[in-house]
Amino acid sequence: MTEPIRRRSGRSVYLAATICAIGALLFGYDTGVISGALLYLKGPLGIADNAFLQGLVTSGLLVGAMVGALTSGSLAARLGRRKMALVAACVFAVGSLAAALSPDVATLVVSRFVIGIGVGLASVIVPMYIAEISPTRIRGTLTSLNQLLITAGILLAYIVDYALAPWEAWRWMLGLGVVPAVALFVGMLFMPETPRWLASRNRMDEARQVLERTRRPDEIDEALDEINTAEQQARQEAGWRDLTAKWIRPALSIGIGLAVLQQFVGINTIIYYAPTTLTQLGMGESASIAAQVGIGTVMLLFTLVAVRYTDRIGRKRLLLAGSLGMSLSLGVLGALTLIVGASGTTVAVITIICLATYIASFGATWGPIVWVMLPELYPLRIRGPAEGLATWSNWAANFVVSLAFPVVLATIGQGLSMLIFAAFGVVSFFFVRALVPETTGRSLEQLENDLRETPQEKVSGQA
Ligand code: GLC
Repeated sequence: MTEPIRRRSGRSVYLAATICAIGALLFGYDTGVISGALLYLKGPLGIADNAFLQGLVTSGLLVGAMVGALTSGSLAARLGRRKMALVAACVFAVGSLAAALSPDVATLVVSRFVIGIGVGLASVIVPMYIAEISPTRIRGTLTSLNQLLITAGILLAYIVDYALAPWEAWRWMLGLGVVPAVALFVGMLFMPETPRWLASRNRMDEARQVLERTRRPDEIDEALDEINTAEQQARQEAGWRDLTAKWIRPALSIGIGLAVLQQFVGINTIIYYAPTTLTQLGMGESASIAAQVGIGTVMLLFTLVAVRYTDRIGRKRLLLAGSLGMSLSLGVLGALTLIVGASGTTVAVITIICLATYIASFGATWGPIVWVMLPELYPLRIRGPAEGLATWSNWAANFVVSLAFPVVLATIGQGLSMLIFAAFGVVSFFFVRALVPETTGRSLEQLENDLRETPQEKVSGQA
């Protein structure tokens, strides 16, 4: 009798994590799809050659994501994680349909903003839901599914863009996002709420039932202990105000630092702008989208490394290795561009090697691990608002870099721009080495106790 239960409980946690991660697929699809679609926004909309309007269509999503991230935390605390995922699915569906049917530029920009709200909600809810539903021993692996599906979504968008390019069918490119949105909605209808949120609402019986479905029999006791801790914490119900408490501050700064540095190493200058940059360098439209498919594939393959090793090697060591890989590859590339210029076969080969190393380093480390760590850093009772704030910083940093990049590039050139990103890679190394705690193999409740044990604020009864 034990064996079938063991297998069944293993499976249902994988299923719940995967279904919820469709939200991450949408995050990736909707952020990636615009890079190819931009080339074809002509016709009645007439914005293909207007850099300002292109910028609005691209960054409208980022502004929406900031709004979504900021509101999602407190809503997740009130509504629960599962209902928030359902809300996000509806927002995605409405936004994608509106974008596909846009009669004019204004509607398109507003639709991209709405889709952005969905992306912002998903970027908080998906890692939180998966982290809370998973047993400690596989939490990193399951939470890195978030980034795996973000990357898969980006790649899928590039493939769709490539396939539809001959018809210049940008409406279909944008509108197809409705398919995963419906899948997320229907899937989440059948998935459970997280045991930790139920415990925080004192719904202990339901929490226990979910644990029985998502844990192996030998793990239920440990999880029940954790739930009791969570129940005690829940008595001190919290909100935005508690983010200012002294013992929360280090965790908050680390979360925000990780979230901002993940963007300041410059990844989205490639994810959003590569086809535009490549066409400017003289490559054909469809060839540059094809090159983008190559970039997405390398990223996806290396994210698989993280899925496999996050719980084995540890988050901190992977982050340090990633910082080294990114700063070295960008440093070499920047110096090469400054000293030698951009011509010649050897230079081209070194450029491709450096770019691939950079993308692989990000894909295997900073991409997934930041999303894995954000829900791990905060205590349950402020997890919603705290993760929301850190995620908001991620989108704000993304917005700043995406908006500033074309201007910076035009002003100081490619070589220096790369060196700036390389410098942020170096900063990220020392930031992680000095400040980031290792969260691998520790339960969310143990991590909370570590925080409390540092300064004066020990919880009574926990000497
Ligand atoms: C991470 C970043 C996101 C980026 C993606 C690329 O998820 O947060 O901004 O587009 O990686 O794979």
